[in-house]
Amino acid sequence: MRVLVTGGAGYVGSVSVEGLLRAGHTVTVLDTLVTGHRAAVAPGAELVVGTLSDASLVAGLLRSKGIEAVVHCGARSLVGESIANPALYYRENVAGGVALLEALREVGVDRLVFSSSAAVYGAPDSAAVDETAVLRPINPYGETKRAFEGALTWYGRGHGLRAVALRYFNVAGASQAFGEHHQPETHLIPNVLAGAAGGTPVTIMGTDYPTPDGTPVRDYIHVEDLSDAHLAALELTAAAPPGLEVCNLGSGSGFSVWEVLRAAQEAVGAPIPHEVGARRAGDPPVLVATNDRARDVLGWTPRRGTLQEMIGSAWRWRQAHPQGYAEG
Ligand code: UFG
Repeated sequence: MRVLVTGGAGYVGSVSVEGLLRAGHTVTVLDTLVTGHRAAVAPGAELVVGTLSDASLVAGLLRSKGIEAVVHCGARSLVGESIANPALYYRENVAGGVALLEALREVGVDRLVFSSSAAVYGAPDSAAVDETAVLRPINPYGETKRAFEGALTWYGRGHGLRAVALRYFNVAGASQAFGEHHQPETHLIPNVLAGAAGGTPVTIMGTDYPTPDGTPVRDYIHVEDLSDAHLAALELTAAAPPGLEVCNLGSGSGFSVWEVLRAAQEAVGAPIPHEVGARRAGDPPVLVATNDRARDVLGWTPRRGTLQEMIGSAWRWRQAHPQGYAEG
């Protein structure tokens, strides 16, 4: 199938493109390269540098490449930045997304897989959150993901769009070729590994949470498991009736920040320098997925669910790319 991947030069996008190519699909990547990296586009995929808001570029691409389905990963994704600059998030995640939907409608492409986020849930009441939980985002990032899910529902009803929203929990790990390189980096595992590699020691942001060891618990999912889920979701859009299907993507188990640090020390084979600091605003104590729906609807199962597999692969990628993609 001919697939357009927005944000295909980003962390999740790059590994998803790899999976699509491996499955025999023809892939065009649309990316601004503002947070993505040219070197993260898998050989075999064609990169077009541009923005979703450029309606004529997007519609032209859909037509000239004969695109049949879209995997929409292109978005802004930093919680702190979204609080400081909500306009950026509404403009790119909501208005940019709707511009993409309008181009799809104009050209007659009716299949889309969307990178959503557990951030739509906010700070849920229950220990393991399923897709029926109330959506109460606590920052503009989560709110813009929720808003675009809403748009997908209405484009399904009004225009026959078949969409799947994948609500990612904490994405981790790397494939052999592609890994995580954000600037600035805010995520726990790359920050722990940066400390292990002699960079700034990681700060443990709060040890007074109402959790067993006092640090927040998260559901980490391997980026290659995520890539598998994108393939399954793409297949689903062929058979599904118009509308929006929603699936959590998590491993279904939670690990605390201290557990992540210990697992990283094992992966690296040495103590990792760290310091204890204050809580980060907006961090919920526990965020763990129920992933039964993804198993049932997508026929998907996480196959790389241990911290060792996730942190080990991230460490190997980091050692192979000490400067990330910056080396050009
Ligand atoms: N943490 C630290 N030190 C760091 C970075 C993080 O202690 O240097 C802690 C955080 O306080 C948090 C945990 O590690 O408790 C995980 O933090 P991450 O930044 O790695 O991930 P988040 O859970 O904050 O965010 C992830 C995604 C977001 C998404 C959110 C909710 O990155 O995009 O899950 O789904 F919004």
